[in-house]
Amino acid sequence: MANTVIVGAQWGDEGKGKITDWMARSADVIVRYAGGNNAGHTVVVEDEKYELHLIPSGILHEEKECIIGSGVVVNPGVLVEELEKLRERGVSTDNLHISSRAHVVLPSHQKLDNIEEKRKGEEKIGTTGRGIGPAYADKAARRGLRMMDITDDRRLEKRLKPLVDYHNKLLEEIYGVEGFSRRKLKEELLQLGDELGPMIGETSVLLEKRRRQGRDILFEGAQGTLLDIDFGTYPYVTSSHPGSGGVCSGAGFGPTHLDEIMGVSKAYITRVGEGPMPTELRGDTGERLREKGQEFGVTTGRPRRCGWLDLPALRHAVTVNGLTALTISKIDVLSGFEEIMICREYSRQGRSYEYLPADLGLEADYSPQYITLSGWERDITGCQDFAELPPSARELIEIVEEETGVPVKLVSTGPDREDIIDRRS
Ligand code: GDP
Ligand code: IMO
Ligand code: MG
Repeated sequence: MANTVIVGAQWGDEGKGKITDWMARSADVIVRYAGGNNAGHTVVVEDEKYELHLIPSGILHEEKECIIGSGVVVNPGVLVEELEKLRERGVSTDNLHISSRAHVVLPSHQKLDNIEEKRKGEEKIGTTGRGIGPAYADKAARRGLRMMDITDDRRLEKRLKPLVDYHNKLLEEIYGVEGFSRRKLKEELLQLGDELGPMIGETSVLLEKRRRQGRDILFEGAQGTLLDIDFGTYPYVTSSHPGSGGVCSGAGFGPTHLDEIMGVSKAYITRVGEGPMPTELRGDTGERLREKGQEFGVTTGRPRRCGWLDLPALRHAVTVNGLTALTISKIDVLSGFEEIMICREYSRQGRSYEYLPADLGLEADYSPQYITLSGWERDITGCQDFAELPPSARELIEIVEEETGVPVKLVSTGPDREDIIDRRS
């Protein structure tokens, strides 16, 4: 299988967790390289549902090694809870490694995230409220705390003091709310450091060792390209690099060793939080998609905004990630719709746009131009053979391939691990 990246080609929730779990069977090491517990990845194995936020979806395969890379921001309390929940369900977590360089998300980051959202009012981003933005901001400002710091009393004291002092200044003097006790935070972090300590290490060295041993490495993306801080619908984005470029910096792995970049896109599109979404369906059709696709956030439970597949956005994802393959997921959700639309381009003031424009976050008047396909009635959940799909479903896949120039190698036809059409050979 060689070294493969699974990257979200939309605004997240494309089904990356399911595809990672499926591809993990032929991988040896599975690595998360970006984001934090803003992510929510659902994997269904024989009616058992697993929801993962920080731990790579490969964890459900006992014999595989899993890595949380340096580009991830880790809330250590949430990680310990997630580990406990998996262990209670009989999942082994013995093979999990955490980068010593990964930054720590503190309760004060979470508080700042929520306060800043409230202060923005109508202009809010609609974050997951998990402290992700403030944690990455501190990392970039060089005052962050890293996972290695919570395993060493003296180092923690040295690194924590200026950070908590800074947070308390913001909280108390600017926002007029209560700050945090450094002593209490330190105690809690040291305790979490004790629990996680044996898993913390130099994971890029481990990865390089595995690569030299000829092992297959799978990188699991979080969020999606349209949420990328550089290439997303800025400012309505997350604070990391969910795209394939994030793999190198977020895992400490060289670009020359990547063989396949697999983008995952739904057969339609969804978004959680604020920001532009040209193909959004606000009426009954959107509601039907939401109900049929069970489009409710795994992390926050918020209803996801739903719309038709957006090819300018997908072409953008192909370009900025260098996609070599695509997965089209949730095609089963489209059964029963009389008509299925695909946005081929946007138009604005007499001009057409085949790629996602950079000012989309600011201008609302790009209007989608659609191709219309006739729908199909038949339930296709669990279909494993491309030839058995209804003609319009096949046409949708062929349009995606023609319009993006990228082969659709996998088609996902249901939430279960086995609901997939494999077109790789
Ligand atoms: P991720 O964040 O990209 O891993 O995606 P999420 O797990 O947040 O959201 C995808 C949702 O769709 C989950 O509830 C999955 O169980 C489900 N899912 C994944 N693939 C399919 C599919 O092909 N069909 C259907 N009906 N559900 C799917
Ligand atoms: P997975 O990995 C969907 C969105 C939030 C918000 C914006 C910024 O499950 O695909 P943040 O908390 O990151 O500062 O919020 O990004 N967002 C996601 N939307 N899926 C995700 O992850 C997301 N992670 C963040 O809703 O709009
Ligand atoms: Mg998700």
